[in-house]
Amino acid sequence: MPSSEQTLYQLPRDVRPVHYDLLLAPDLDRMTFSGTVSIEVEVYRDTLEFVLNAKDLRIHEARAFVGGADSPLEVRSDPEYERLILRGDRLFGAESRVVLYLSFSGEIGNLLAGLYKSQFLYPDGTDGVLVTTQFEATDARRAFPCWDEPSFKATFRMTARIDPRHVALSNMPAEREFSGPDGLKDVVFAVTPRMSTYLLHLTVGPLEKVGGQTENGVAVSVWTTPGHAGEGMFARDVALRLLPWFDDYFGIPYPLPKMDLVAIPDFAAGAMENWGILTYRETALLLPPGASSARTMQRVAIVVAHEMAHQWFGDLVTMSWWDDLWLNEGFASWMEVKAVDHLFPEWNMWDIFLAEDMAEGLELDGLARSHPIEVPVGNPHEINEIFDAISYVKGGSLIRMLEQFVGEETFRKGIGAYLKKFAYQNASTRDLWSVLGQASGQDIRSIMESWTRNMGYPVLISGETGQIEQKPFFNHPVEMERSRTSPDGRIWPVMLFLSSGKDRRPWLLKEEKAALPPPPPGQQWDNLNDRHTGFFRVLEDERVRKRRREGIKAGTVPVADRLGFSNDLFSLGRAGLLPLSEYLETLPVYRQEDQYIVWADIAAHLGWLQGLLAFTDGWERFDPFVVFLMQEAFRKAGWEVSPGDSHQKRLLRSLLLSGLGMHGDSDTRQRCQELFQERVRRPDSLHPDLRLAVYRTVASSGDPDLHRTFCDLARTADSQEEKNRLYSALAAFRRPDCLRSTLEFAISPAVRIQDTVSIVSQVGGNVWGEEEAWTFFRENFDLFRKRYEAGGFALQRLVKGVSEGFRSMERKEEVARFFASHPLDGAKRAIEQVQETIDLRAHVLARQGESLRKALSSPDLMKTEGSSSV
Ligand code: BES
Ligand code: ZN
Repeated sequence: MPSSEQTLYQLPRDVRPVHYDLLLAPDLDRMTFSGTVSIEVEVYRDTLEFVLNAKDLRIHEARAFVGGADSPLEVRSDPEYERLILRGDRLFGAESRVVLYLSFSGEIGNLLAGLYKSQFLYPDGTDGVLVTTQFEATDARRAFPCWDEPSFKATFRMTARIDPRHVALSNMPAEREFSGPDGLKDVVFAVTPRMSTYLLHLTVGPLEKVGGQTENGVAVSVWTTPGHAGEGMFARDVALRLLPWFDDYFGIPYPLPKMDLVAIPDFAAGAMENWGILTYRETALLLPPGASSARTMQRVAIVVAHEMAHQWFGDLVTMSWWDDLWLNEGFASWMEVKAVDHLFPEWNMWDIFLAEDMAEGLELDGLARSHPIEVPVGNPHEINEIFDAISYVKGGSLIRMLEQFVGEETFRKGIGAYLKKFAYQNASTRDLWSVLGQASGQDIRSIMESWTRNMGYPVLISGETGQIEQKPFFNHPVEMERSRTSPDGRIWPVMLFLSSGKDRRPWLLKEEKAALPPPPPGQQWDNLNDRHTGFFRVLEDERVRKRRREGIKAGTVPVADRLGFSNDLFSLGRAGLLPLSEYLETLPVYRQEDQYIVWADIAAHLGWLQGLLAFTDGWERFDPFVVFLMQEAFRKAGWEVSPGDSHQKRLLRSLLLSGLGMHGDSDTRQRCQELFQERVRRPDSLHPDLRLAVYRTVASSGDPDLHRTFCDLARTADSQEEKNRLYSALAAFRRPDCLRSTLEFAISPAVRIQDTVSIVSQVGGNVWGEEEAWTFFRENFDLFRKRYEAGGFALQRLVKGVSEGFRSMERKEEVARFFASHPLDGAKRAIEQVQETIDLRAHVLARQGESLRKALSSPDLMKTEGSSSV
């Protein structure tokens, strides 16, 4: 559904590129590059001009070759639309093949887009540099003139002109090498399959690798800066094991002869799916031996799987335009979990998905300022803005819901058919629904379109005698009330997963109100969203909630439903459908809880409540309550990481330790101090799983001396993973002077541009730091804008991180005023969402603050029901 705005930004379609011959010559000493490109184009309608994209490039020469003749082209540039207009001295007729030749040059930047440089240290401590590319979404045009839209697929032959001591890597293997001018080496890569420009790639530098090969003879290599190749072994093994599994799942063998996974020290996102050459942040690819936590291991497996999934879904079949970005990212967000679940079934990744992903999607999509999955986007800012939890997590959750609804095997067949049908082409959301419809024999499109074209999701309100009703859900009580009383017309075909004792059955609610199908004889439906599978919420009546509480205490409720109950109860309370104090009063039934995902959900809500109540009267009762909740579970998890611990037990231990330490449990804090002192003396003494929690706990009561210690540790840490933990600690101090130093440190040369945002937003997320972070952000606005204005993850995160935590209407106005005079095009929606979130907090505080305080101070809240209680 192109909007007029959208078409304005799209190139004319009457000329299409077929093949590019591209030479790129980066000069690492001067930090400039030059290049030439010959683009073979097909002309579909008589034209005087060729219109294509370029940004910040100098064009030295432009010529057109038709038949045997060649003629110069006049070059105009249109910086606003990031275009070149090439005009010949004659008409180019329809059905002709023309070759456009351009030579150009540009600067190698450091803003992590286009062709950019990344710096690192050699093992001997000397400085090194490499050059790499990041083209998604619209930055191929910064490296060479091209039709830089996903539907202009073409083949590419890349040639890199490089220092002979370096390695050059691109999408395809090198085919030939020969000496070029000035002692340089030309590396000519094989021609790619038909593909989109945003997936093209080049990295040049002194890289090392660990490699391997699949049974089908695909060479898989993990590349790193010198001295780190060994850290790539885990990722290589994951990739080697997953490649045949993906071949099999999709029913299409990986079509390229090799797959490289490259760790890039400076990297804007987490990773990128360039076809045949996947690029990663170091922390998303490498496991420094003996220094990695369970969390990092999971992260590496997930991110490796995510980019591999894109090799089919995204690279082989690509969305026609960016308004269907969710097809790429939603699918990969789902598939990453499925793939890792296959490799490490004992991790129970689908449970983790609920806690770490789906919860975030439900939270964001509960905002009135959310957006539909399918959303018109035109300019690059708008495109970058939709790289958010809606495209990723809501997208992934919908795919999961649909898969569960039609059945895994049917779904797999449909996906395979879709990929075969559109291989090397482009497709849209409709195309996917239509193929899945054929595979399943159901009208998938009419079921799914409400989910992808409406924003938000429903809450199911279950009434007496098996009646249920759906209403659009909102986080904000005012919006929720409006939605209950004056319908806005949105109705979703809701895939319910009904369960009663042993029976589990999908069932489609098509209307606003309906009667549930009768449960099996002698049974009742005790869950409408079994295992928290569907992307919606359920409001049960008081009797059912009571039963659920008892079931949780008695240990009869499955883990995903324990999470689901906590997640719904909190959100319904915040939205005013229940008293929020009921959530607080329910929490003690979870004291015996021993599963990570449930605690992860609870911890997130405790975090929100802490932000709500911070610095208000009676707040001092909050910390003891958290300690009361968590101490029993932590006692069972224990301090010692033992080799037999499950993955989730390891995650749980860190989570609870962090909770107890940050909420002031004195024994925990004492022990953390000791462990930290020992860690300073003997860096390897502290297990990686415990480090983050220990560092943050210690930092939370630290003074400027300790702050200096942490800065030094962060500067000298030899892995990025360890640096990140130390950065988190720097953001966990409470003294304003220390936090101020943390913020200064975050923009100093000691910290990579890619890592600043996470530090600054962690300071903003620390209730003692929100003032400092907001002030610092405003003081340094120009710097931040220059660095991150392109948008995407970093800018959204920054904006939210520094302004989202406030809890008063005055602050909301202040934030609104600031951004009104300091617009950020790549974060327009994030800026609106922040205001809604502050409004929500202010509203909840005004309406429910008193009852929460009362609940917290009730002598019953922390009563343990005798020593034998469950
Ligand atoms: N295609 C994205 C990378 C990207 C993000 C490019 C934003 C341009 C703008 C990649 O596939 C991705 O989704 N990366 C994620 C990985 C994660 C969800 C496992 C990331 O970078 O965090
Ligand atoms: Zn992705």
